[in-house]
This record gives sequence, structure tokens and C-alpha cells, in this order.
Amino acid sequence: MSVIAPQDVSRSRWLQVGWAFMLLGAMLAAANAVLFMSIDAYGHPGIKSRFIATEIAGWMHTLGGAIAVVLGPWQFLSRVRVRWPRVHVWTGRMYLLAVLSGALGGLYFAPTSVGGNPGVIGFGILAVFWLYTGAQAYGSARRRDFVAHRRWMIRNYSLTFAAVTLRLELGLLQLGGLNFDVAFPIVAWSSWVLNWLVAEMWLRRK
Ligand code: HEM
Repeated sequence: MSVIAPQDVSRSRWLQVGWAFMLLGAMLAAANAVLFMSIDAYGHPGIKSRFIATEIAGWMHTLGGAIAVVLGPWQFLSRVRVRWPRVHVWTGRMYLLAVLSGALGGLYFAPTSVGGNPGVIGFGILAVFWLYTGAQAYGSARRRDFVAHRRWMIRNYSLTFAAVTLRLELGLLQLGGLNFDVAFPIVAWSSWVLNWLVAEMWLRRK
């Protein structure tokens, strides 16, 4: 007979609540991405004009990012992995293709970032890390090294989740009185470096 300690039950409740918030944030970021590309008067004009001028790259980035951010949370559910392993594999392939598309689009737009040099470098590094961690996650799954695969996917999704934290942090900094031109270069870094640190701390605890 297996005995489940009360602290394990409450820990798993907290994990479920955290997962639900993660999915909610992901859905809002995905909706923002689709609205940004489809509604004329929606979004920052300096960013929008570039995304519309090269619509293929614009859609590659926003749709790829939107699909990746929404698919990611489902990949962490062990119930899905155990009961329907094929679903996990195919969703994972779609996720990684979406990351590839989003990252190529991100690399295309990073050099002209409205955040100036901090934006160019911050988004540029993020796009390279996004690709690198995705490639490592894929390679380790192919080698059937599932411990490494899980670790690389956690790192990779922490970067995908920058789409959520960027908009949250930008809003908070603007509420705190910073204007967009000051706040945006900051979040070009903080939106993913903090997520990455949280992911590394999580992996260390495990
Ligand atoms: C994680 C790697 C990512 C990188 C490197 C990246 C890069 C960029 C860059 C360079 C821009 C233009 C900003 C500027 O002009 O300064 C941008 C804007 C944008 N990105 Fe990403 N991005 C990433 C993730 C995502 C994801 C996952 C989504 C979708 C959920 C997304 C959706 C958007 C949208 C909608 C915009 C337009 C501006 C806005 O609404 O804030 N990005 N991104």
C-alpha cells in the first residue's frame, strides 16, 4: 500500500495551480500575438510596421510563438506522457517546429528592435538560446536520454514563456512610471533572464 504524505498532496495542488496560471498566461500571449497581426490599430506602430512590411516573417514569428507557448504546458503533464505517449511525441514535434519558426522570425526582427542596442542584443541572444535549447531537447529525445530531454525542455519553455513575462513586466514598469522607451530595453533582457534563472533553480532542486 502506498502512503501519500499530506505535504505531497498540498505540493501537487500548488503545482496544479501554477500550471493553470502558466496556461492562462500562455493563452493571453497567444491571443495578443494573433490580434497584433490581424487588427490594424492594435500594437506598437514601430514594431507593427516592420511585421506587416515582411508579413511572412511576421506570421512566422507570431504564429510560431503563439503555437509554442500554448502547446508547451501540455508537454509537462506526466499523465499525458504515460497514457498517450504518441500524443506527447507529436505535440512535441509541433512544439519544436513552432519554436523553429518563431525563433527564425525573432532573429529576423531582432536587428531592428525598437529597444535600440539592448533590444538588438537581448532579443538576438534570446532567439539563439531558444534555437539551441530546442535543438538539445530534440537531440536528447532522439538519443532516448529522457532525463536530459526533460531538462532541456524546461529550459526551452522558460524562454518561450518570455512572451508572457515580457508583457507582464512591461505593464508593471509602465505602471511604475517608466515610459515605453525606457522600459522596453529593460524587458528585452529581464523577460527571459529571470525565467532562465527560475528554470535553473527548479532543475537544481530536482
Ligand atoms: C522566445 C524568443 C522570442 C524572441 C527572440 C522574440 C523576438 C521578438 C522581437 C525582436 C520582436 C520585435 C520587438 C522590437 O521591435 O524590438 C518581437 C515582437 C513580438 N513578438 Fe516575439 N520573440 C520571442 C517569443 C515570442 C513568442 C513565444 C510570441 C508569441 C506568443 C511572440 C510574439 C510577439 C509579438 C506579438 C510581437 C509584436 C509586439 C508585441 O505585441 O509585443 N514572441 N519578438
